[in-house]
Amino acid sequence: MVREGIALVDRDEDGVDRAFRADVLAGLAQPQKAVPARWFYDEQGSELFEQITDLPEYYPTRAETEILDERGEELSALIGQGRAVVEFGSGSSTKTPLLLQAIAPAAYVPLDISGDFLRASAADLACKFPGLPVHPLEADFMKPVELPQAVAGVPKLGFFPGSTIGNMVARTAIDLLRSMRQTLGSDAMLLIGMDLIKDVAVLEAAYDDAQGVTAEFNFNLIHRINRELGGTVPLEAFRHEARWNDIHARIEMHLVAREPVSFTVSDQRFTMDAGESIHTENSHKFDLRSSFLLLLAGGWTPRQRWTDRAGRFSLILAEASTPRTAP
Ligand code: AVI
Repeated sequence: MVREGIALVDRDEDGVDRAFRADVLAGLAQPQKAVPARWFYDEQGSELFEQITDLPEYYPTRAETEILDERGEELSALIGQGRAVVEFGSGSSTKTPLLLQAIAPAAYVPLDISGDFLRASAADLACKFPGLPVHPLEADFMKPVELPQAVAGVPKLGFFPGSTIGNMVARTAIDLLRSMRQTLGSDAMLLIGMDLIKDVAVLEAAYDDAQGVTAEFNFNLIHRINRELGGTVPLEAFRHEARWNDIHARIEMHLVAREPVSFTVSDQRFTMDAGESIHTENSHKFDLRSSFLLLLAGGWTPRQRWTDRAGRFSLILAEASTPRTAP
């Protein structure tokens, strides 16, 4: 593992991210072709995602910001002062100031695999909150993480906004929640954003906007495969599709072949029939019970739940569960 200045990337002799190549080749060889959504987020992908959060159709960011903005006093009463806030996948951290203002924390630990965003957001936060110790940590939050010594012994509040948990299938989401509990300790709390099940037309529009930014975000994966893996995937032979899967309660993003298509990636040939797709993202949506069940399975007991005024998005405060004998 080479520690490459800004990110923890294991590259081969051609400078190609080994995990990216392995995921793409394995994913394209499956009967339902699929590439893990984490590969959306190169520099362009991260910029496109920032643009998505401002789109009229993409309500989650505005809805979650509204909750944080309006529930500051309740958050403060329930969380108390003096916790170290650990933000998982801090990205550009736009919602964080609202939380930090509300609860007067002892420290802030933004945790992200991308050093670029991490440093920028940590510097920004340190300016906005001059007295607050900020300890950026470059790490893959999908695994248990050793927190900085400076916050040892300080009770923690995990912060995982944006409904990023919804981008994982249940098994992975539960593994992550458990690993967060291990990272944060048995006296920790967790504040987590979870998007809600709603009208299918609203959901599909949020992932297939009129300006085509989400389509561009999806197509960026093809650009990245062609650029980094020497791919010959013809962009024009695909269209973006966002579809609701009611069994799994999720929006799925696909790149659907408009016509029969054949291409190579890293010298391996793949063919697709017209209508066949590459599945590129899941975005699970929840109701009260499914969100609570997921948290409980991950070792967190829900304590309070808020939704925005239009009832589109939920923010849940949970406590690390204490193992006990139960029927
Ligand atoms: C990052 N994540 C929570 C976004 C979502 O809504 O699932 C990613 C996204 N994909 C398309 N639009 C937004």
